[in-house]
Amino acid sequence: MSQPFVPPLDLQSLLSPHREAIAAAVAEVIDSCHYVLGPKVEAFEEAFAAYSESAHCIGVNSGTSALHLATRLLDIGPGDEVITTPYTFASSAWCASYQGATPVFVDIDPATFCIDPAAVEAAVTPRTKAIVAVHLYGHPCEMDALKAICQKHDLALIEDAAQAHGARYKGKRVGAIGDMGCFSFYPTKNLPCAGEGGALTTDCDKLAARGRSLRNHGSTVRYFHEEVGYNYRMEAIQGAVLGVLLPNLEGWTEARRRLAHRYHELLDGLPLQLPREAEGCESVYHLYTVLAPERDKLIATLKEQGVGTSNHYPRAMHLQPCYADLGYKEGSLPAAERAAREAVNLPMFPTMTLEQQDTVCAALRAYFG
Ligand SMILES: Cc1ncc(COP(=O)(O)O)c(C=O)c1O
Repeated sequence: MSQPFVPPLDLQSLLSPHREAIAAAVAEVIDSCHYVLGPKVEAFEEAFAAYSESAHCIGVNSGTSALHLATRLLDIGPGDEVITTPYTFASSAWCASYQGATPVFVDIDPATFCIDPAAVEAAVTPRTKAIVAVHLYGHPCEMDALKAICQKHDLALIEDAAQAHGARYKGKRVGAIGDMGCFSFYPTKNLPCAGEGGALTTDCDKLAARGRSLRNHGSTVRYFHEEVGYNYRMEAIQGAVLGVLLPNLEGWTEARRRLAHRYHELLDGLPLQLPREAEGCESVYHLYTVLAPERDKLIATLKEQGVGTSNHYPRAMHLQPCYADLGYKEGSLPAAERAAREAVNLPMFPTMTLEQQDTVCAALRAYFG
């Protein structure tokens, strides 16, 4: 008898226990007629600032908006360079391009998929203004090394923590280590909302005050605009949903970590590169990503066995058509390119059952004979 399908992510099973609480919070918003920002967003901002151990949290309408706010807050502009990883979601680079600056892509550490500090150091020029460090798949970047580079060259450090809510580097929450942290609450993320949502965190009072104004048309007093701003406001319904779900995040993270450690044990010895936590890092396993040389064949076989996988970044950013004018050649950033060719995300979600995980591991063992 064939096994039931194991999806890469099962949002239904994650959210259905919270359906009534979510519905009640959303109904409150609808009845209040206060649909944008307002008390639900403020309450979530306060709770998420505390959770992420930052002085300030500014709720916005996506992780992409949070990243753009960060580069705008640093007054990055044409002629400036922002160093980031090519193996990430596009927004990590958009935040440079939106400001007319140039993203500079450097290679990753093949073991963690995070930006390689030595490659960052080698890419610093007099035009460099900031580093966007992406805590990819929930694993923290080498923050001490990146901070040291920033101090040496007077650069800002932006953390793209879109996939890493609650991850810790040497005991500190990511997003609270650099100058600003940028989070996404897109429904597939570790802390989902019911649509688009994001947040910017910082310990700096000045950046926070200006960020609040910029997300709201550059305005703190209605119809008076201190500077040209954006409509990046968080909707009240998203604040309400996030307020209900945030208290579950720690438990979800523990479940992800337990599942990841069980994957490590069950898949040990197979010809796959498994994720490993670097020293001092506590990953939140947004994804459990392995490298497999014949990736497409593996994905097809797993599908036949009822195992759903995903692959997020089949083409690294430095080789995307939108950045062709930057002149990167294939082979220039080999670790990122290998990850783009070989990465497979195995099913990973807090409500995955051990039976589902056994199905995944049995299918992998059968594949490798
Ligand atoms: C690493 C990373 N950065 C930024 C983003 C952008 O977030 P959003 O989709 O909320 O705009 C995402 C989400 O897709 C992401 O995974």
